[in-house]
Amino acid sequence: MTGHAQIAVLFVCLGNICRSPSAHGVFRDAVARAGWADRVHIESAGTGEWHIGKPPDRRATAAAAARGIDLSDLRAQQVQATDFERFDYVLAMDADNLADLEQMANIQGKVRARIALFSTFSARYRGEAVPDPYFGGEQGFERVLDMIEDASAGLLDEIRTRLD
Ligand code: 4NP
Repeated sequence: MTGHAQIAVLFVCLGNICRSPSAHGVFRDAVARAGWADRVHIESAGTGEWHIGKPPDRRATAAAAARGIDLSDLRAQQVQATDFERFDYVLAMDADNLADLEQMANIQGKVRARIALFSTFSARYRGEAVPDPYFGGEQGFERVLDMIEDASAGLLDEIRTRLD
């Protein structure tokens, strides 16, 4: 963990090139605008290993950039067993990601993190999966951002109560 961060958040999807880097970028922007960039540590990761080291999908980068969000510095990494100790929140994009994380956490044993669907914090999309946009068209990336923006607002509210 970096500096004096008080709360650490890990966003997780399958490849860490579409949904979770989008969540990373959107939430990082919201946290920065709230003035908490030094207090909240944010990362993203994939349950899969195929894209380790790669930047986000260019469609995700373009859709985010159109909303003023920069993903260009992000690089894919894979979820590690120790992440369940390092992070306060490990937030899955869909039910498959959540099931994979819960299985990893059960094996790991040492778990500090709250492991949940990211949409737990969403007002409009509570409990819904953020659909995998990888094999679809560009409108899928707009849908991903709509869902992520709403859940990010809710997560920011939750974290506000812990920073005060
Ligand atoms: P993500 O999307 O999980 O939102 O990053 C995917 C990216 C790549 C693959 C699947 C989903 N893939 O199968 O390579």
